[in-house]
Amino acid sequence: MKTCIYPGSFDPITYGHIDIIERASKITDKLIVAVLNNYDKHSLFTVEERLEMIKDSVKDFNNVEVESFEGLLVDYVKSKDAQLIIRGLRAVTDFEYELQMAQTNRELYKDIDTIFLLTNLKYSYVSSSAVKQVASFDGDVSKFVTPFVADKLKRKYNKHIV
Ligand code: PNS
Repeated sequence: MKTCIYPGSFDPITYGHIDIIERASKITDKLIVAVLNNYDKHSLFTVEERLEMIKDSVKDFNNVEVESFEGLLVDYVKSKDAQLIIRGLRAVTDFEYELQMAQTNRELYKDIDTIFLLTNLKYSYVSSSAVKQVASFDGDVSKFVTPFVADKLKRKYNKHIV
């Protein structure tokens, strides 16, 4: 059984991520969406909140699981008996960072490969950072994230909502 890992910060998950998840789920037996529990990085959402939003977004895909991980990605991938990492590429500006990460991971674990899926053109400009910025000014994020995530963003930035 082939297992692929789709790692990321997902702070929060966007339609661009969901599109990658949907397409990746079709080329593997099992896809694990792995959320980095990044204590050092300043995330808007806690890892539990990010897991909740991803689980809601992927509930219709039956071979997709959602987990969090800490430490090195290669160690997590090994622990899952997997050898394939999925990453999305939105534009050429993503490439340098992705190449460096993929090569580093391969140096750390020679059996690992990274598969890049091109982000759907429709979402090629969407980023979690831009979504957060729009939401922080109470802008409309409905084109970028699911209604569930949009609601979580609203609650995060308008703390008086119960
Ligand atoms: O969504 P992001 O923030 O681009 O995802 C980055 C992620 C989580 C894939 C990357 O930061 C990662 O794998 N971190 C774990 C630490 C690690 O293994 N680093 C070595 C590779 S450079």
